[in-house]
Order: sequence, then structure tokens, then C-alpha cells
Amino acid sequence: MTETKLSEYLDYEKVLNEEQLRIVKEGEGHCLVLAGPGSGKTRVLVYRVCWLIEKGVLPSSILLVTFTNKAAREMITRVEKLLGSYPKGLWAGTFHHIANVLLRRYGSVLSIPANYTIIDEEDSLSILKKITETVETQEGFLKPSDIKKIFSLSVNTVESIKDVVNTRFPDNSPFIHRLETIWSNYQKTKRRHNLMDYDDLLLFCYKLLKNESVGAKISGNFRYILVDEYHDTNRLQSLILYQLARVNKNIMVVGDDAQSIYSFRGATINNIMEFTRIYPGAKIFYLDINYRSTPQILDFANKSISHNHIRYPKTLKSVREIGVKPVVVKCYSPKDEALFVSQRVFQLINSGIQPKDIGILFRSRYQSAELEIEISRLKIPYIVRGGIRFFEQAHIKDIMAYFRVLENIRDEVSWRRIFFQTEGIGSKTAERLVPYISGLKCFDELVEIAEKEEFGLRRATAVKSLVSLLKKIQGQKNMQKGITLIMDAGYSEYISKKYKDEIERYEDIEMLKEIASTYSSLEDFISAASLQEYAKGELTEGTSPLVLSTIHQAKGLEWKVVFIIGVSANHFPHPTSTMDIQALEEERRIFYVATTRAKEDLYITYFTRDFYRTFTNRPSIFLEEIPEYLYEKWNF
Ligand SMILES: Nc1ncnc2c1ncn2[C@@H]1O[C@H](COP(=O)(O)OP(=O)(O)OP(=O)(O)O)[C@@H](O)[C@H]1O
Ligand SMILES: [Mg+2]
Repeated sequence: MTETKLSEYLDYEKVLNEEQLRIVKEGEGHCLVLAGPGSGKTRVLVYRVCWLIEKGVLPSSILLVTFTNKAAREMITRVEKLLGSYPKGLWAGTFHHIANVLLRRYGSVLSIPANYTIIDEEDSLSILKKITETVETQEGFLKPSDIKKIFSLSVNTVESIKDVVNTRFPDNSPFIHRLETIWSNYQKTKRRHNLMDYDDLLLFCYKLLKNESVGAKISGNFRYILVDEYHDTNRLQSLILYQLARVNKNIMVVGDDAQSIYSFRGATINNIMEFTRIYPGAKIFYLDINYRSTPQILDFANKSISHNHIRYPKTLKSVREIGVKPVVVKCYSPKDEALFVSQRVFQLINSGIQPKDIGILFRSRYQSAELEIEISRLKIPYIVRGGIRFFEQAHIKDIMAYFRVLENIRDEVSWRRIFFQTEGIGSKTAERLVPYISGLKCFDELVEIAEKEEFGLRRATAVKSLVSLLKKIQGQKNMQKGITLIMDAGYSEYISKKYKDEIERYEDIEMLKEIASTYSSLEDFISAASLQEYAKGELTEGTSPLVLSTIHQAKGLEWKVVFIIGVSANHFPHPTSTMDIQALEEERRIFYVATTRAKEDLYITYFTRDFYRTFTNRPSIFLEEIPEYLYEKWNF
């Protein structure tokens, strides 16, 4: 091995503690690093890569697998900074990314042409829809989105469709045979058109690695494999890693069983539990110093997770100076909660904290909506991590379109949205209606236009029902009821047909009702929604926006100040999980991941009035189970 010049910044002894240093220097062979949040697992991987490269290992023989491409990029940047130059050829990215590169390069041995197209969720669903129509189904048969969920779990957990259905969706057992037929047609269709969905990337990568001729060659190339967030890998990913590591037998994985939060996608902590069995002779390392959070935040987080029956109890000591206790803030309603958080954020920024050092986390996507309105009002730049801003989401825009035309009957953009989503009005009819919009004076004119243009009975009836719906909404003082009317008139069905994540979209719409209930005039409601577009313009180059994120998207990250909002019963833990102990424990892990993102200040907020202020609500069980001496109590 040729030694390259040591970077002057790379003083491993100084920047790593004893155990971290041992892992960086002695991490040969199979290694499992099992440690709690903030203990430097990710940091160890970064330094290990530097160490290897300094020792003369070719970057192209190192594979760094992370959970998101963004995390991979960040790690490469860190390595680049430390080494002083870009480690040319280093393999880094998500499982899907790596699988894609390998398949493009070697897929021909499986007769996969290198120019395949990767299809997204929507494409998959439309293929599945077509196939389902050709298979004899019966009343109550699954929707394409449910079928896809089952297929996806089957691929990722490496279980048969039959087993997945019987264990996770027993109500659908009568459909197993038909699902198997659809699966085989689905695979054939994709192969015929040279298409790959995300699951195929992993599935075929695994097949490729098991192939006698290329498998060993690929595996031989990777001398060192390093994996971050191993607790969130699924069975198929663990099998892929096993194949990748089989020649050089050098795989280092880092993880924390207490942070495993992706079981709904098939992730399993068994991968950690069984590591030493799968890789005999593996070394296990533990890290027990938390560098991220103050002792007060850590005490709070540790107490919370102690209610779970985790398999590897860990002791974590904070090395940070004494800070302040986490603050639990009781608010009246979601709106008040949003007011508290936005005002506090505003004060923090005024006192010199950068927006990028503040993270606002929530269990479910819909929970950020009120807050987005308030921080837009204060013109604080923000981004929504891993998602679209609340009011920019298609389904929210669809609903808002009805209110917009109520306010401005000549709003052509909104009319287009409405026409496209109305059952019975096709795109051709929409195009014929649109030219009339600029001269429209009242809704009834549309019915006259439909008659004059001789649309035919079906379309004319659809236009008539649309007009009657709009008039009904107009007649309602209450906008929240207006939304219910829109949903009942067909939009609810439209969502369930069109989207796989319809539950989340329904939740969003419930949230929209909640927001609507706090406005007394249509005009104010619409301006609040439009304000967000405005705030986006404020985001100029060089500003570092505040981050709003679901907890799932926040893993591995840290902020000086963290807010966790909506920690109320019925919202967090997610209502579907409270009856099932395993699901409840996963929710507690999610809460644990959230609290351990905070370095210095942690605010947790909940509200006591729910569902348009009609019900009283309690704080989340995750707050009730923490002794009061561990936090401060505020009322807003
Ligand atoms: N030896 C050390 N000296 C100083 N700071 C450290 C040390 N080890 C880790 N840190 C810092 O502690 C913080 C947490 O480290 P890191 O993100 O690597 O932890 P982690 O174990 O990967 O956490 P998570 O489980 O949340 O992913 C980072 O800011 C990191 O730079
Ligand atoms: Mg990490």
C-alpha cells in the first residue's frame, strides 16, 4: 500500500475519542457499530473513509451506503474537505442509486438492456390499473395502490405475496391467487417495455450479484463497504450487502435499534440483531458518549425510550455543558400552536440564531400547514424537507380552486383544475369551456354554454352538477362544510383512485378544514393560502432557510434548536398505532429520533382543542409518561 500525504487537518487522535479511533483504525473484517444517537456513528464512517484513502486504498474500491442521496453528498463533501480533494471514484449513495449503476453496467448478463427507463410510482400504478382491468376481479378487490403496497413489501421483505397478505393484510387472503397473476403480468409488462420500478432495481441488483460470473467480480471490486443507518435496512437490502461483501469480507455497519422507524417499508431490526450470526466472527463496537445534546435533552430522550422493550439497552453520557430543560408548551388549538412556534422562531432569529439552525419536526405531513401560514406571514424563509409546501400540493390546490372561482369567477387556472378533476368532463370538453371563462358572469351561464355547444347528455349533466355544487358551496357560510361538499361530490373518490398515499391526503384535507374553520371570510382564507407563494419569493440566494420536516426525513440530522409540534393524543402516536404494542413502540422510537435531533434547545408543543375546536384533547402519552421534573411547563 502506498501512503499518500497526510492532510494537516486529519489529526484523528484529536477529533475522535478512543473508541471511535479504534473503529476507524481497526475496523477490518466485519464490524457492527451499535450506538445511540449523536454518538458519532456517521462521523466515524466519514473518518474511516479518509483513513482508508490515506492508507492508499483506491476510492473506487470503497462503497459508502447511506439512507438518502443528500446524506451521501454531505459525507463526500466532508471527506473532500478533510482530504483536501475529491476522492475520485468513491462509490456513495442509496441502495437504489448503487443498484442502478450496477445494473446499467452489468445488467446484460440478466438480459436487461442498459437503456431501461426507471418508472415512478404514478407510472407503476397506471400499469397496474390496466392489468387489473384484464383480470377477473370481484366486489371489494384491491385498488392499484394497495396492490403496489403488497408487491413492494413482498419484494423488500423477500416474502411471497401469499405470506405478505396472510400476515399483514389477512382480509385480502381470498385474493391471493389473483394477486399472483397480476404480479406476473406486471413483471412481464415492465420487461416488454424495458421499464424498471424502484423495487425492480433492488430485486435485479440482487439477482445480478448472485450471478456466478459477475457477482464475484463486483463483490471483488468492493474492498470496503460502509453502511450508515443500518437499523432501517430491509431484508432485501441486507441480502444485497451480504453478496457485495462476500469476496473481501469487509463490511462495517453502524446503527441503533432504538432509532428504527421504517418498518412500514419493510425495514427490520433483525438485520442488526442477526449481524453476528450472518457474519460469524464480526466485531461489535459500542459508543457511549453523546456529543450532540445537552444532558437535559438527553435525560428527557432516555426516559422516553426507556418505556420501550428495546433489545440493546445503551447508556449514553452527554459531554456537553449543562443547558436548559426541554420546554413542553400547552397551546389551545393548532392555530395557537403555530402562533407560538412562529413567534418564538422570530425571536430566536432576531436574537442572532440562523434560520438553518432551527428545525421544526412533526409526525405527519399535514401537521405543518398552520405553521406554514404563520411563518410565511412573518416572511421567514423556510423549506419543507422531502416534500412540497402544504398549499402547493396538488390535492390542496384542487380544493382551493373551488374557493378561488367563488371569489373570482374568471380565474381560468382554477377552472381548468376543476374541469380536469370533475368526473364526466373530459379534457376536450374542458378546452371548449375555457374560452368562455373570461366573459363569465355567473355559474348558470356554464349550463347554457354546455347546451349551446351540444356537449351531449353525459357531459352536460356533469357541468350541471358542477354548477349546482358550486352554488351549494356558495350558499354555505362555513368553508369547512364547503370542503366536505367537494369531497362528497366526488373528490374523495378521485383521490382514492388517483393516489397511493390517499390516507395522508385525506389527513391534509382534514387539516385544510381545520384551517378554514379559523377564517371568517373567504377572502382572508384565500389570501392566507396565497401568502405562501409570496414568501417563496423571499428566499433569495445565500439565505439559509428554516427547515420543516417530518421526523422520518430528519433522521441523522441535528439542529441547535428543535421544535416538535402536534404532540397531542390522536396525532402522535399516529392514531392507527395505539392498539398495537409493536406499532406503539415504533411511534415511541420516532419520538426518540425527534428529541435526539436537538443540540441545545428543545421545545415540544401540543394543543388541547381539536377538530375545529370542538373536542378537548390530551397531551400525547409520550409526554404524560415523562416525569415532570425533566422538563419545564409553559402555557401559551
Ligand atoms: N469525538 C467527537 N468530538 C467532537 N464532536 C463529535 C465527536 N463525535 C461526534 N461529534 C459530533 O456529534 C454530533 C453527532 O455525531 P453524528 O451525527 O456522527 O452521530 P450519530 O451517531 O451518527 O447520530 P444519529 O444516530 O443521530 O445518526 C456531530 O455534530 C458530530 O460532529
Ligand atoms: Mg448518523
